[in-house]
Amino acid sequence: MKTIKLNDMTIYVAKNYDEMSQKGAEIIAELLKAKPDAALGLATGGTPVGMYKELIEMNKKGEISFKEVSSYNLDEYYPIEKTNDQSYDYFMRDNLFNHVDIDINNTHIPNGMAADCAAEGKAYDELVRATGGVDIQVLGIGGNGHIGFNEPCDVFDPITHQVTLDERTIRDNARFFNSIEEVPTQAITMGIGTIMTAKSILLLASGKGKAPIVKEMLLGKVTPQVPASILQFHKDVKIVLDEEAAAELLSEIE
Ligand code: GLP
Repeated sequence: MKTIKLNDMTIYVAKNYDEMSQKGAEIIAELLKAKPDAALGLATGGTPVGMYKELIEMNKKGEISFKEVSSYNLDEYYPIEKTNDQSYDYFMRDNLFNHVDIDINNTHIPNGMAADCAAEGKAYDELVRATGGVDIQVLGIGGNGHIGFNEPCDVFDPITHQVTLDERTIRDNARFFNSIEEVPTQAITMGIGTIMTAKSILLLASGKGKAPIVKEMLLGKVTPQVPASILQFHKDVKIVLDEEAAAELLSEIE
């Protein structure tokens, strides 16, 4: 697989979505073998689904175990019940937790029904801080450069907080709902500061729709208008792209 070093970032260019998913799963599996009680920062969205499938297979074959793992998800819609099949809580159970040997009590997702979002954010950050920083934070990237639900704005948000979703994010996520009107307009997300406490980062991106923002994130200036650009300042970042998502980056640097 083509590997590119860009400052402290390692970029892997996979042929397609399946190869990207496999590479992402291998990186997590390697960590779990070295540290069975790892703290995983997890993400939702279409991108990591294939990677979660690979991890489920590895777990079924006995190659990896989640028994001692704890997990901390990036974000949740607000307000939303855990039982709603559009909640990220439901997504994680459906796409990973129900199929591996993880103890569900060790999985954490911001509470989409919190009465007080500021208090919820503070408590969530304390949970993450108690891990000493998750060992690996899985990220996707929004078409507008968001990570978690940190939308483009004037300042990097340090803490877990309530956000109003961008019109573009609502449009992009409408594909998971019956209609755009059903997409929640608010969410609770780890802040950029929370994300940056991770000991390592694993960002996945697939498809040509992500090609412009991938280039911007990695080669553009670091700005809260492209929240993912902050990753240029993290010391241990792995980016796994498929060829389509890598296309604009590669045409710039090669
Ligand atoms: C969602 C999530 C992000 C995700 C991004 C991209 O709204 N909050 O964590 O990375 O948007 O989603 P997808 O992988 O479906 O393109």
